[in-house]
Amino acid sequence: MNAELLQLAQQMPKAELHLHIEGSLEPEMVFRLAERNGVRLNYPNVNSLRAAYAFNNLQEFLDIYYTGMSVLRTEEDFYELTWAYLKRVHQDHVVHVEMFFDSQVHLERGIPLDVQIGGIRRALQEGKEQLGISSKLILSFLRHLSEAQAFETLKLAQPFLDQLDGFGLDSSELGHPPEKFARVFARCKELGFKITAHAGEEGPPDYVAQALNLLQVDRIDHGNHSLDDPALVQRLTDEGKTLTVCPLSNLKLRVVKHMDQHPILTMLHQGLKATINSDDPAYFGGYVNDNYSALLEHLPITREDLYQLSRNSFDGAWISEEEKTTYLHELNRVFGSTMNGDIRHF
Ligand code: ADE
Ligand code: ZN
Repeated sequence: MNAELLQLAQQMPKAELHLHIEGSLEPEMVFRLAERNGVRLNYPNVNSLRAAYAFNNLQEFLDIYYTGMSVLRTEEDFYELTWAYLKRVHQDHVVHVEMFFDSQVHLERGIPLDVQIGGIRRALQEGKEQLGISSKLILSFLRHLSEAQAFETLKLAQPFLDQLDGFGLDSSELGHPPEKFARVFARCKELGFKITAHAGEEGPPDYVAQALNLLQVDRIDHGNHSLDDPALVQRLTDEGKTLTVCPLSNLKLRVVKHMDQHPILTMLHQGLKATINSDDPAYFGGYVNDNYSALLEHLPITREDLYQLSRNSFDGAWISEEEKTTYLHELNRVFGSTMNGDIRHF
């Protein structure tokens, strides 16, 4: 692997746009919080829990992921989880993050929204003040639950809408097409929120088209199977839709067989606005820079590709043009402001 490119990938500023905060719950923290909260675990120790992180598909992962988060009970737990993630990705030069939280899993366990959002928001505030990381918070609806349950959650979220920046759709994709939630997302749009949806991770290209047509998404999470439909690729390119791609997740959930078959370069070469993200870093073998290292190890990624990936992450972020310009200046500074002799202007 080219050491210079690896260093550049690690040191360039980047936004992470696809991160489930509960997916950053490391086994060590699972055990610490289980002990503190008196939660009984089915694993005797950290190593046995980590050994269970071997998945054949999305559902096998989700079953373990939803169980793991049962140790989160108090505002302090949500705060510590989020703060640990921010401190960790500060080392990866993440300067902006847009994170999901799976509110419905916690609500089902009797943990109210003020506890969830209060803890996460407190850490995000400190992340801004102490680490200079800006952030957005996205409430993600679980697609294996019903439309009525999503509406009920939206109602419960009413007092907290000023603390949310967008709504997402995640969980078991196959059999739960975006159309199931068209009316919920129409309401979120009416309320002025940004929208994103997991689509085309395991599901067909039609689910991506539905997310565009029926949910009016601002981004697509994953989107790998868009590549199966050239007309859809053309549309995503024409509309400049950002795809939040997650290479290590794709490998661990067998969306790709091997990292040398990952379609990230195909996506970039077809003009798709692909970005690199970690999804659930505690479960998939690493944070955002680990995703870059894995790609660099197995694919002929160039300096220009790295630049484009970082640039796409800021372009796709739900931030103002002024903020984008500030981050792009910083990106240019790290790249020495010249590439192939061209000076890039923004
Ligand atoms: N929830 C957490 N990670 C997810 C993923 N990769 N796909 C769907 N739902 C998820
Ligand atoms: Zn995800």
